[in-house]
Amino acid sequence: MITVTNNQVAPSIEVSNVTKKYGNVVALKNLSFRLEPGERCALLGPNGAGKSTTLKILVGLLTPDLGEAKIGNMEPTSEEARRIIGYLPEDASPYRTLSVRENLEYIGALRGIEDVALKTDKLIDMLKLREYEKAKVGRLSRGNLQKLALALSIIHDPPVIFLDEPLNYLDIPTQENVISYLNGLNSTQLVSTHIMGVAGRLADKVIMISHGAVMWSGTLMDLKKLGHEDEPIESVVARMLVNVG
Ligand SMILES: Nc1ncnc2c1ncn2[C@@H]1O[C@H](COP(=O)(O)OP(=O)(O)OP(=O)(O)O)[C@@H](O)[C@H]1O
Ligand SMILES: [Mg+2]
Repeated sequence: MITVTNNQVAPSIEVSNVTKKYGNVVALKNLSFRLEPGERCALLGPNGAGKSTTLKILVGLLTPDLGEAKIGNMEPTSEEARRIIGYLPEDASPYRTLSVRENLEYIGALRGIEDVALKTDKLIDMLKLREYEKAKVGRLSRGNLQKLALALSIIHDPPVIFLDEPLNYLDIPTQENVISYLNGLNSTQLVSTHIMGVAGRLADKVIMISHGAVMWSGTLMDLKKLGHEDEPIESVVARMLVNVG
């Protein structure tokens, strides 16, 4: 396992009674949950459940219509919160006219990282991007673009990490590296995913949302106990999600 340390304390994450509408569409309906400092949690739910909206509120890109989100005791929109947050959006777009390495060094410099070149090399190797470090982003394959976007989101070893479908498009060896890397970080993590096998290895806890509200939360062990003996976890989750419509 690759172990990375930062010297900042991982904060709690709290969403309290958040409602968010897009016009007439109610995306989040009185949503509440909490992650303790250093807790790693998978955010599950069917398409349109409100996962990406939740993450956007937590990183300060959207503001709730009602209720509030907090990173420790900070507002997500505050400068201090932005400094300690790492966020991978679902449609991340690195600078297309810069190379992979240039993107990492540029964002790393903006984030105030001391040894940008060293950190860049570490991430390039972890994500198997060495072959493409000089390639312009506009020419990358979808998976390699995702690897770069992920690297950019965590280059500053943030104590709080929000990742929206981080392993989408990644080949299996890279998925393994990313899982080990994330497991070795000292941070509070909320990761949305549709891949249960990944959820189980990335997180200690699951928050399942549907129609913008929490429908279930607990540990993965609790989730497994809801199924029949030897029932795959995918099947348990599918049944739960179908039952709520
Ligand atoms: N910009 C927008 N304008 C209008 N409606 C939106 C917008 N973004 C999201 N929505 C709606 O809000 C709801 C929640 O969307 P959201 O993207 O948060 O879901 P999700 O759980 O991330 O889904 P997916 O698994 O497909 O990524 C959906 O009904 C969606 O159609
Ligand atoms: Mg989404």
